[in-house]
Order: sequence, then C-alpha cells, then structure tokens
Amino acid sequence: VRPLRVALLGCGVVGTEVARVLLDHPDDLAARTGAPLELVGVAVRDVTRPRDGVPAELLTDDAESLVDRADLVVELMGGIEPARSLILRAIAGGAGVVTANKALLAEQGPVLFEAADAAGVDIAFEAAVAGAIPIVRPVRESLAGDHVTRVLGIVNGTTNYVLDEMATKGLDLDDVVKQAQALGYAEADPTADVDGFDAAAKAAILASLAFHTRVSIDQVAREGIRSVTADDVEWARRTGHVVKLLAIAERTADGVSARVHPALVPVEHPLAAVRGAFNAVFVEAAAAGPLMFYGQGAGGRPTASAVLGDLVSVARDRLIGGKGSFESAYASLPVLPADAA
Ligand code: HSE
Repeated sequence: VRPLRVALLGCGVVGTEVARVLLDHPDDLAARTGAPLELVGVAVRDVTRPRDGVPAELLTDDAESLVDRADLVVELMGGIEPARSLILRAIAGGAGVVTANKALLAEQGPVLFEAADAAGVDIAFEAAVAGAIPIVRPVRESLAGDHVTRVLGIVNGTTNYVLDEMATKGLDLDDVVKQAQALGYAEADPTADVDGFDAAAKAAILASLAFHTRVSIDQVAREGIRSVTADDVEWARRTGHVVKLLAIAERTADGVSARVHPALVPVEHPLAAVRGAFNAVFVEAAAAGPLMFYGQGAGGRPTASAVLGDLVSVARDRLIGGKGSFESAYASLPVLPADAA
C-alpha cells in the first residue's frame, strides 16, 4: 500500500506533539490505519526557529505547495486566515482534513462542511472541543438516534485552571494566565480564553452537533472571567460554591439557545470537582438520560491524542474510498440570537 502523505499546518504546542508521534511511532499508526502515514512537511511562519523533535528539512513557509502534495492535511494554525483558505484548498485538491480550529469552525463551519461534502472528503474536528475528551463523535454519531435536550460543561481549560489557582492560592487573574500560557493551555492570544471566545466557539460547535442545526459564535451569549476577582472566588468558597465558566446549549420550545458565563456551582456538584485544565461536558438526551464526559481539555499531548485519532479515522475512510460525514444530516432548527439566551 502506498503511504498517505500528511501535511501539518502549524507547529505550536499541539503540532509539535502530533509531528513527534507521526515521526516516532509510524508502525503503530500504520497498523491502525492500514497504510503508512508519511509526514511530508510542516508549514510554519518562521522556518529558522527550531522545533523540538521536528527535522529542519520538514519545515516550510510555503503552506500552499505543501497542501497541494498531501493526501491528508492537519490544520493546527488556529485563527481564521490563512487556515480557512488552506483548508478549502486542501478540500478542493481532494485531501482529507483534520482541524482543531474551533474559532474557524464556529464562524465558518458551514462553508467548510459544504465544500467537503461537495468534494466527497472528510473534515474531522474532535480536537476542536474539550481537548482529549471524545465528545464530538459521541454527540454527532453515537447520539444521532436520540433527542439531545441540553449540553452543559466546562470547555475551557485555561479559565478553569485560572479560577482554580485563584481559589486555592488566592492569586490574581493576570498572574495565573501567564502560568497557563507557560503550561501550553492558553490560546496564542489568551484574551480568547479569558473573555470566553474560546468557550463560546466550542458551545457553538456542540450546539450545532447536538441539535443538528448551525449555530455560529455570534449567536452565543458570552461573558468571560475578566471581571472575576480573588475576592469573588473567596466569597464563593465561604458560601459553599466554586466559580466555574460554564458553556450551556439548550433546546427550548422556541429554538436553540447557547451561552457562556461564569456561574456559582455548589461544591457537591460534579462540575465543582473539575480541577486545573480538565474539562467536563454533561449531555442530557431523551432516551439516554444524562451522560458525562470528563478529561484533559487543553495541552499539547491530550489535544494531539484527539488529532491523531481523527487522522487515523480520516485516513481509513480514504483507503476504503468512503466519507464518514454526517454533515448532510443538518436540518434547520431555528437558533435564537445571543441576546435572547
Ligand atoms: N485554550 C484552550 C483551553 C485550549 O484552554 O481550553 C483547548 O482548546
């Protein structure tokens, strides 16, 4: 079997881990996929900066040419452009796509999915929501025969870590955000975490999957944790609560609503026990009842786990000439505007 050529776009905390596994464990991945996965290049902005464990000859700043010679494209650049154009180029060229780009999916998901459907290629994005936790596939596929009513969770590891450190060490938000950056949890611009944009993007993605509709990030009511003080966190503790940034998506009589905001969670609630950069997502479905998904929601290795799982799955689909997409299942449930949440 000829190897499948993999292009990696972006080589940050997650990309470095993905490259390392592709280079160090090719036989494991080949056995699970059914063909070798050959990393043919890694697109970065600055090719002169060494990347731990990634041979310099794989680095390129010509992402377009790299995409053009790949069977599978893994996009880990984040942000809207050039990620959007490169993914569309990959799809147009017939490549399968794996992305962890929640901001792009929450803003432009329909454009990407329609292009992928038209080209008959996969676009997989398990890593875009809650890091290592398998949540996209369960909501999209395992629960496709059920009727999901509510999704509720902690989906941003950085803010959960920050709130946790504020509660246990009495530190201020700004100091802890720097720690979260150093640990590889925070986005390149941590404003995305602190002000709730990252959680809102994930809420939009989860709501779209759970309710088979299209929810974009601007339909999610959003309040981050910037105004939460060490005193607030201490007051919560004294009254038997923990402050958590929650993402909530619900099916109501009028349509779908989604919101992100800090909330006081009673200490005995399971979500109160979610510490550090861990995430947890509750899903309530008519027949299944309550389900809870828990695990590491941020960081290089946990997120790389989800990316690599998607890569194996997209590669397998490609080998059998199929496409594992559920995109055509989207209907048109009305989505309430953010100010109605
Ligand atoms: N910055 C994100 C978080 C990374 O803290 O959850 C994972 O999407």
